[in-house]
Amino acid sequence: ASRYAVFGHPVAHSLSPRIHQAFARQFGIELNYEIIDAEPATFAAAVRDFFAHGGAGANVTVPHKHAALALADTHSEAAARSGAANVLTPQANGDLAAHNNDGAGMVRDLTERHRLDLRGHDTLLLGAGGAAQGVAWALLDAGVDTLTIVNRNPERADALADRLGEPARAHTRYWKDLDSIGSYDLIVNATSAGVQGQALDLPFAIVGARALCYDLSYGKAAIPFLTWARAAGARFALDGLGMLVETAADSFELWHGRRPDTDPVYDALRADGV
Ligand code: ATR
Repeated sequence: ASRYAVFGHPVAHSLSPRIHQAFARQFGIELNYEIIDAEPATFAAAVRDFFAHGGAGANVTVPHKHAALALADTHSEAAARSGAANVLTPQANGDLAAHNNDGAGMVRDLTERHRLDLRGHDTLLLGAGGAAQGVAWALLDAGVDTLTIVNRNPERADALADRLGEPARAHTRYWKDLDSIGSYDLIVNATSAGVQGQALDLPFAIVGARALCYDLSYGKAAIPFLTWARAAGARFALDGLGMLVETAADSFELWHGRRPDTDPVYDALRADGV
């Protein structure tokens, strides 16, 4: 059976092995999918070792997504626009190709699983780190009307807006002005506050009448933001589990040439309380 893996740190609780094995069963494919915990200092060597010993594809998660793009020989447009990679695939000529499907996975979760049309949405993006960059351009491509980026550190928000290169639609505001910047149809939490067990202090006033609030994380990390969103009266408060399953499906299709059915896998994870 061919060898696949997810690299991260920490990564012990990754759902990726379970998701890829469930997809593989849909097609009767046998595969090994490992969890490889690599510290930043040893990440590049661990990746090279994996591909030198039969690795057929790797997913990459926090904190290695920038390093994954840097060590690859070639990259997709999505990886370049995200400034990071979450998929590494060896090519026949020996090159390692980097790709990023975080943005596509998030948009597909919203538009296909939850059947939401993002066109015309005034969107607020909280955060300007790696996770925010991975989804910002995909939200613009999906047709949101405007994208307002707010980050605790304003220079990072400005840098992300500059990179997006769409000044008419994407711009920044100060975190301290959240009370007075109006309300939004779509609010995306791309900060790592929840992962770090910190609460965000957000005013209810930013939540529009039919607002959709989305956290890129899932499980315990998403609870503070989603609890806030429900208390603020958001119409939808969604975590990023669907995004994770969709990104896994994209990786699976890239490696195996077949498109898995994501709904039964998503439903099984939910039934298990994820
Ligand atoms: P990731 O890859 O998860 O995006 P990152 O690049 O370190 O990680 O970015 C973390 C993001 O979460 C940043 O936007 C960070 O804000 P700063 O740039 O101001 O540091 C944001 N963040 C983390 N903890 C936060 C908190 N308690 N309140 C607000 N923003 C927070």
